[in-house]
Amino acid sequence: MMASVRLKELYKRFDKVVAIDGVSLDIPDGDFVVLLGPSGCGKTTTLRCIAGLESPDSGEIWIGDSIVNDLPPKDRDVAMVFQNYALYPHMKVYDNLAFPLKMRKVEKNEIDRRVKDVADLLGISHLLDRKPRQLSGGEQQRVALGRAIIRRPRVFLMDEPLSNLDAKLRLFMRAELKRLQRELKTTTVYVTHDQAEALAMADKIAVMNKGKVQQYDDPNAIYNNPANVFVATFIGSPPMNMIRAAIRQEGSNVVLDAGSFSYTLSPEYSEVLLRNLQSSEVFLGVRPERLILTVEKVPSSVFLSEVYVVEHQGANMVVDLKIDSEIIKAIAPPLPLNIGQRVWVGFDEENIHIYDGKTEKLIV
Ligand SMILES: Nc1ncnc2c1ncn2[C@@H]1O[C@H](COP(=O)(O)OP(=O)(O)OP(=O)(O)O)[C@@H](O)[C@H]1O
Ligand SMILES: [Mg+2]
Repeated sequence: MMASVRLKELYKRFDKVVAIDGVSLDIPDGDFVVLLGPSGCGKTTTLRCIAGLESPDSGEIWIGDSIVNDLPPKDRDVAMVFQNYALYPHMKVYDNLAFPLKMRKVEKNEIDRRVKDVADLLGISHLLDRKPRQLSGGEQQRVALGRAIIRRPRVFLMDEPLSNLDAKLRLFMRAELKRLQRELKTTTVYVTHDQAEALAMADKIAVMNKGKVQQYDDPNAIYNNPANVFVATFIGSPPMNMIRAAIRQEGSNVVLDAGSFSYTLSPEYSEVLLRNLQSSEVFLGVRPERLILTVEKVPSSVFLSEVYVVEHQGANMVVDLKIDSEIIKAIAPPLPLNIGQRVWVGFDEENIHIYDGKTEKLIV
């Protein structure tokens, strides 16, 4: 029933636009994999290639243990859920759900049983007699999901299925969808440009940019060990701070010179950096929640900066800090801070990421 999905060196261009630029992905059977990236990075095109709605210029698409490049969509045994649910407006919910089975000439009693099962699973049994226009956005989305799962396809393909919902319903539905996928254990490829959604839902995330997979890993690794500057600054809210710094050697230590402050690395970090560095500059990356703000100087303090603005978020606050003409962001527990006040900013070495200034790849 279920199946893995494998993409090997997929390329697709539209005239001069390279939409997919050598994508290889191994999606294990039963996994929930999210394609995450900015607008235009090739997510939908990749999904449509898997569905068979688009054919790649080169590369292989595997579902289970066969290549499906030459199979028409209907023979691939995949179900796609789109952003706009595309329900049949003139049909009741019951008939919308039954439709894919009717098309496949499933027997009437069997259809009835499966419609009721799926409606039960999705909590829409009380809506079966309504038309789509008599449903809320979340209810319509559940019907669309129901229509996809009722066939019990080998693979679900979902393209921003929650993006038409309001913020609260979206949070609710993303948890529901994840629970449903765990229950059905159907291999799922899910497209979004929302990093929080990706972190929350995925077994593995493929971060894409400009038609290429930048990193393919579990959410924890993507967050804590971003492989390059793009991934580091795409993930997180606010994203990772990136400070450009020149490097200078002092004995067995490397000093990162950011202009407005400098930071001396331990001999261990220095050694790794010098061994792998390809340029004389680096990006020093620190997540906002890893910055330590104090009014008095403490051992971890690295530089003094000025509070530019403070945004309260309930349990925490986001503090914008000015160093020279740059703004960096810190997440801190509520502190009595005023605009213009000077505070010490620091971090622990184990919480920083250093990226090569030229290749933008993670060094340490
Ligand atoms: N049918 C098409 N004809 C021409 N160009 C296309 C076509 N489909 C996609 N493209 C281009 O290919 C690139 C990738 O598009 P794609 O729709 O895959 O991006 P996406 O990651 O899904 O973006 P979004 O988040 O905005 O939906 C874009 O530059 C887009 O303009
Ligand atoms: Mg898209």
